[in-house]
Amino acid sequence: MPKSIAIIGITGNQGSSVASHYLSLNSAAIQSGDAPPYTIRGLTRNPASPAAIHLKSQSVEIVKADLDDASALISALKGANLIFSVTNYWEPFFRPDCRAKAKQLGLSPRKYAYDVEHAQGQNIADAAAATVDSLDDNGFIVSTLSHATQCSNGKYPELYHFDAKADIFPNYVKAKHPELAKKMSCLQTGYFMHSFRIAPASYFRRTGDKSFETCFTTHPDTKVPHLDPVGDVGKMVHAISQLPAGKSYMAAGDMMSWKEWMEVWGRVTGMESRYRQVSVEETVAHCGDEDFGKEIADMFSYSSWPGYDGVSEIEAKEGEQDAEKVVIYSKDLKKLGVDVKMTSWEEYVKKSDWSEVLNKEVVQP
Ligand SMILES: NC(=O)c1ccc[n+]([C@@H]2O[C@H](COP(=O)([O-])OP(=O)(O)OC[C@H]3O[C@@H](n4cnc5c(N)ncnc54)[C@H](OP(=O)(O)O)[C@@H]3O)[C@@H](O)[C@H]2O)c1
Repeated sequence: MPKSIAIIGITGNQGSSVASHYLSLNSAAIQSGDAPPYTIRGLTRNPASPAAIHLKSQSVEIVKADLDDASALISALKGANLIFSVTNYWEPFFRPDCRAKAKQLGLSPRKYAYDVEHAQGQNIADAAAATVDSLDDNGFIVSTLSHATQCSNGKYPELYHFDAKADIFPNYVKAKHPELAKKMSCLQTGYFMHSFRIAPASYFRRTGDKSFETCFTTHPDTKVPHLDPVGDVGKMVHAISQLPAGKSYMAAGDMMSWKEWMEVWGRVTGMESRYRQVSVEETVAHCGDEDFGKEIADMFSYSSWPGYDGVSEIEAKEGEQDAEKVVIYSKDLKKLGVDVKMTSWEEYVKKSDWSEVLNKEVVQP
């Protein structure tokens, strides 16, 4: 009997990566003369989108479901052996109609997007709990981030796109659905290597003909995780699914400071590059959108302390870390018996088209 995989966010970066990985496992089985081991079901709001149609042509079952619709989710996830879940803070944060709704409700765009992502996560958790018996022992793999308010002891109470995820995965699931929690693994994801497209005013600012700088509030020497989500989330999910449930992981192809990150980019592209630590105010000024600037400035500052994964270097020293907060990184999976080849930042830079960055206008440093 093939295993049934249900993928939320299948048309996006992380979900499409999971779909590609399991499709490749099916192809490998077919080539060896075996039956495909997985049936793949993907959820989308729009089954007529080019991405959904392409997935359907690869024999993915496409199911229409909106994360705001709790009952549609229950039937879309029913009978799954493995569920991959992801929620998207940035859509309700940026969409003009959501900005208008936030204003109408008297909420900042940051808090409004928190409320939407939190409610969607809760709907996912409730629907997964309704099919807990069909899930494999480690059958609920959720994309999440660390809890900034808790991990910083209240220093960062408004890092909404972290807390909206962690308030549900794992907190709500543990509190409300203990049987589901026993089958859950939390997958934190590092800084997406393509995020220079999401925050172009902070990443790769062109300061001269051949010179570029990246400006965040993170300390220049703090190492942070970096991830190619399209290339690698699927591999991580498959690897984790083979391990016991109940742990937290960090998907990362590299762990390096922003200074090192810019050095690699400069070396590969032949450009002059530097990293400059800036203030929250300068980040906001670069972004031109106060809410976006503050949300990302909080994230970059939180990355300096306690750390992107919520665990400070002092805590991480053996014996000083709360067992609940242990995060297993991709590079350490080998010790647990599963090996995952992740994409390094250098490999990503070499395989990517940088014309979008190299064609930028020069700005004042
Ligand atoms: N950028 C970074 O560096 C970074 C790092 C770590 C974590 N993250 C997190 O990554 C998340 C985004 O993940 P991603 O990049 O994989 O997303 P993405 O590529 O933007 O795709 C979003 C996916 O979610 C689905 N979706 C969104 N709203 C939905 C709804 N109401 N009902 C059903 N499906 C819905 C979309 O499906 P349809 O449109 O087909 O319905 C799409 O498949 C964000 O929450 C962000 O905080 C980002």
